[in-house]
Amino acid sequence: MLHREKLVVGNWKMNGNRAENAALVRDLLSGLGSLAGIRAGSVGVCVPYPYLAQISELLKGSPLFWAAQDVSDAPSGAYTGQVSASMLNDFDCAMTLVGHSERRGLNHESNELVALKARRAVAAGLRVLVCVGETEAERAAGHTEAVVLGQLGAVLTELDGAALERLVLAYEPVWAIGTGQTASPAQAQEVHALLRGRVGQRSESVAARLPILYGGSVKPGNARELFGMPDIDGGLIGGASLVAKDFLAIVAEIAR
Ligand code: PGA
Repeated sequence: MLHREKLVVGNWKMNGNRAENAALVRDLLSGLGSLAGIRAGSVGVCVPYPYLAQISELLKGSPLFWAAQDVSDAPSGAYTGQVSASMLNDFDCAMTLVGHSERRGLNHESNELVALKARRAVAAGLRVLVCVGETEAERAAGHTEAVVLGQLGAVLTELDGAALERLVLAYEPVWAIGTGQTASPAQAQEVHALLRGRVGQRSESVAARLPILYGGSVKPGNARELFGMPDIDGGLIGGASLVAKDFLAIVAEIAR
């Protein structure tokens, strides 16, 4: 049977400072050291830009990778306030998120813009973790499938065959993010299977290997059930990734 990569990625969002980051990373590294069965590169943290240098230093040579929370769709130039994929590469960044619902919502990012960011990240040699997910109103109106397939479809338009190998997906229902209201394992599995099926229309082999993470109020108490579903390959963790003990307990569930 195919052994698909499992990943747990923490999303610190706009939290932390130098001292807190150092303490969190220290606790994560010491905790990871005593967790059996965790492969290097299967656990990462998405940090705010100003701490790229600090975190890349602290994590050098460690099993934990670091990632960014967003990236520009432009290569360089007059884009005040933006950060390019090659700048992330300069700090040995492994991956970047794109299309987090907080950026789609608060920053009005379209499916097309998110897809262009994904293309730019991959072209610079990064892995890209694309977030998709429906709002509560969209789910209530029966539009979940159309919304997530639209978000994924835009990305598939921009990524060619080789680029697809660098794609990771996260299904994050917007109504579950930071609310304590987690999708049920069955609800999440249904969407994950749908996403994998859509990628499979492009390439069966990419789809079979594609990690699809679930995000939205993942906690130590619900991670096992969620990660036990056939198409859920780990998690994208917000609030719980700021508490080392909780994050490590979630990470332990991919080692099982
Ligand atoms: P949460 O956030 O775990 O705090 O719900 C998840 C995310 O936004 O990636």
